[in-house]
Amino acid sequence: MLLITLMIIAVLVSAWPAAATPPSSCQRRCGDLDIPYPFGIGRGCYLYTGEGDTTFGLTCKLTADGTYKAFCYDVQVIGISLRRGQARIRSDIRSWCYNRTSMSMDKNNVWWSDFTDSQFRLSDEDNRFTVIGCNSLAYVKSANTGSKYMTGCMATCPAAGRLENGSCSGMGCCQAAIPRGINTYEVQFDDRFTTSRTRGFGRCSYAVLVEAAAFDFRTTYVTADDFMESTGGKAPLVLDWVVGKGTCREAERNATAYMCVSGNSECVDSRNGPGYLCNCSRGYDGNPYVPDGCQDVNECDDTRFKYPCSVPGTCVNTAGGYLCSCPDKTTGNAYNGTCDAKKSQLGVRMALGISIGVVVLVVATSCAYMIHQKRSLAAVKQRYFRQHGGLLLFEEMKSKQGLSFTLFTKEELEEATGKFDERNVLGKGGNGTVYKGVLKDKRLVAIKKCKLINERQEKEFGKEMLILSQVNHRNVVRLYGCCLEVEVPMLVYEFIPNGTLYQLIHGRPHGSRISFTTRLKIAHETAETLAYLHSWASPPIIHGDVKSPNILIGEDYTAKVADFGASALAPTDEAQFVTFVQGTYGYLDPEYMQTSKLTSKSDVYSFGVVLLELLTCRKAMNLQALEEEKNLSSHFLLAESENRLDEILDEQIKGEQSVELIEQVAELAKECLEMASDKRPSMREVAEELDRVRKMLQHPWGQQTCDEERKALLIGSPSTCPKVELSNGYVSLSDSAYLGVQSPR
Ligand SMILES: *[C@@H]1O[C@H](CO)[C@@H](O)[C@H](O)[C@H]1NC(C)=O
Ligand SMILES: *[C@@H]1O[C@H](CO)[C@@H](O)[C@H](O)[C@H]1NC(C)=O
Ligand SMILES: *[C@@H]1O[C@H](CO)[C@@H](O)[C@H](O)[C@H]1NC(C)=O
Ligand SMILES: *[C@@H]1O[C@H](CO)[C@@H](O)[C@H](O)[C@H]1NC(C)=O
Ligand SMILES: *[C@@H]1O[C@H](CO)[C@@H](O)[C@H](O)[C@H]1NC(C)=O
Ligand SMILES: *[C@@H]1O[C@H](CO)[C@@H](O)[C@H](O)[C@H]1NC(C)=O
Ligand SMILES: *[C@@H]1O[C@H](CO)[C@@H](O)[C@H](O)[C@H]1NC(C)=O
Ligand SMILES: *[C@@H]1O[C@H](CO)[C@@H](O)[C@H](O)[C@H]1NC(C)=O
Repeated sequence: MLLITLMIIAVLVSAWPAAATPPSSCQRRCGDLDIPYPFGIGRGCYLYTGEGDTTFGLTCKLTADGTYKAFCYDVQVIGISLRRGQARIRSDIRSWCYNRTSMSMDKNNVWWSDFTDSQFRLSDEDNRFTVIGCNSLAYVKSANTGSKYMTGCMATCPAAGRLENGSCSGMGCCQAAIPRGINTYEVQFDDRFTTSRTRGFGRCSYAVLVEAAAFDFRTTYVTADDFMESTGGKAPLVLDWVVGKGTCREAERNATAYMCVSGNSECVDSRNGPGYLCNCSRGYDGNPYVPDGCQDVNECDDTRFKYPCSVPGTCVNTAGGYLCSCPDKTTGNAYNGTCDAKKSQLGVRMALGISIGVVVLVVATSCAYMIHQKRSLAAVKQRYFRQHGGLLLFEEMKSKQGLSFTLFTKEELEEATGKFDERNVLGKGGNGTVYKGVLKDKRLVAIKKCKLINERQEKEFGKEMLILSQVNHRNVVRLYGCCLEVEVPMLVYEFIPNGTLYQLIHGRPHGSRISFTTRLKIAHETAETLAYLHSWASPPIIHGDVKSPNILIGEDYTAKVADFGASALAPTDEAQFVTFVQGTYGYLDPEYMQTSKLTSKSDVYSFGVVLLELLTCRKAMNLQALEEEKNLSSHFLLAESENRLDEILDEQIKGEQSVELIEQVAELAKECLEMASDKRPSMREVAEELDRVRKMLQHPWGQQTCDEERKALLIGSPSTCPKVELSNGYVSLSDSAYLGVQSPR
């Protein structure tokens, strides 16, 4: 007997492989429930995932009301969704009632449900723990390994008449969410709080984990205790299921156990704990768990898609999708747009003919052009020459005799810089590189080579050339000439050996060692130059980007104004006045930023910031500083208004100079930084004021100068003068960002 039993078991097990295709003879319907694989009735018809697992094996039973119903163990299954990977079951409602006879609550107050040994989990998205009653507190607990969890809610007992149908928000009914990934739960009423003894209300409390969408609160559940009767003691509960334990990536590796066997199916990781599901690909529908289960959806006939093309369009089904086309003689978007009548055939043909003609013409022209280009390199050079405004420049030059402006050839500049050797790079910026070079006549030059040239830069470049070619001033960087024969135009400047003012002021970690006298000299010369550009040059020139990196330092600390890329020749009419705003943050005139009108007073504002840099040795824009100190001009104006000027002045000059003169310069800077441009002094006035302060410094009336102090020092009195200035060759060339190419914007 034992042997036979064992043999039968063996036969049964071997005829019951893990992921085999179920025979077509399986029963796929029970009552009005469809039962698709992996679910099934009877051995071999469902997915068997392991010892003791009964997730997918159902039984079909005739129930008392004369209909067939599907059960998983003793739980009735009322719905199966392959697409969502869910099953709906009817779960028990728990009630706890007050016994009027014994004057106490019925004692057994704990119930539990357990899906531990199955592929089911409670859907946290769809279910809610729901408590109904008058003063009822219940908990739901889960003892799942690693996720001990408890939550609950209390349904209060409202004043009569305040209960509402359909509203489960605390009064007579409350709901709580459950966590993801649990498959066991326990319901418990708290007898300390659960009374249900209030007059006018029923005597029972209920607790149930229920599909939120299927639950509708009725006031009679609380007032007449009819929850059980009206639901039959059961409520729908949604379970998520998976067909394999690991992730999709793990599952796909073992083809024998992989469940997504249909073509046009894909694997989906379960979002509710470990395991995976299968789903038909987009445009396909059916059962991904059986071979050829996923079938193309005919979107054109499918009522769910409600005729997917726009009204006059015709729909053609394709594998995994559909096509919409406009009816004959119309054209347009048949998917969701409109189909319009086509232009006449003749028109179309003509349009076609013309486009072909144009294409042929373009191709022919480009070919001819290319051949032409190859034939003469000189022509290319000529083209660049013209492109970079060479002709315009030449016209201009012709009319302004007496300026020595050279048009250099490409070869000359290559020779001067050693074929643009890296070692000759003086500075690199976003828009170009500056090389040091030696011309044949041994003149040192700086050659600015723009990086790319777009239309705007081309204009800027031409502008700079025009402006500089017209200026002949001791304190403006001389433009010797340019070279236009190359792809990127190049400007040839006089070579200024000692770097920029920016480097001079900020180049050292702990401030600079330049005397007040020198600072004043640089400021004065710069102001004079700008004043000259503003008032005496013809036509007047506005620099537009005055800042310390654009002021070069020559021998003997001579200031040399450079970089006229943002400059404008003073406008002759209003229309020209409005330029697009450019310049450098920290130096930009706020009024110019607002109005886009570049005026000579914009230069005055920027110069005011340069004055501040000279006075404080701080950068115009210091992003590392405290919020209120980032912007030098606002920092200065604040300190000035609070009489804290002393705090931001450079220690060096404070020690060296009487506060009075410094304050005069600070006052001047303040005036330059006036918000309203018409309150600012003109550049000429600034230059004159600086000149006055300089003279006072040299010939003080009754003031002791440093020179005198030095003399005094010789005979032994104390001094505040700096000992030596710039003793160690301060400016280095190797790291110099020359000619404003490297502007920290
Ligand atoms: C299966 O695909 C459909 C659309 O093709 C999508 O709505 C559904 O959420 C997918 N199911 C899962 C479990 O990802
Ligand atoms: C109430 O309690 C009494 C006494 O303990 C018991 O006999 C009776 O069956 C209970 N009634 C209900 C409805 O449970
Ligand atoms: C709520 O609906 C039930 C019927 O389902 C009805 O008897 C009851 O009076 C309604 N309650 C309120 C407050 O409207
Ligand atoms: C693949 O799955 C089958 C069936 O579950 C199992 O017997 C086999 O050991 C698995 N192979 C690998 C490499 O995991
Ligand atoms: C439908 O129209 C919208 C907006 O006009 C467009 O973004 C979308 O691509 C269209 N869909 C198709 C299938 O053409
Ligand atoms: C480079 O040119 C562009 C546009 O001409 C300008 O916005 C940018 O600030 C320039 N960069 C530098 C570092 O000068
Ligand atoms: C400037 O550079 C020249 C040449 O390198 C040098 O002779 C001169 O001393 C420098 N002047 C200053 C003020 O650094
Ligand atoms: C700097 O401060 C001045 C004065 O408060 C202000 O006009 C200007 O717009 C500020 N600049 C920047 C870049 O914030």
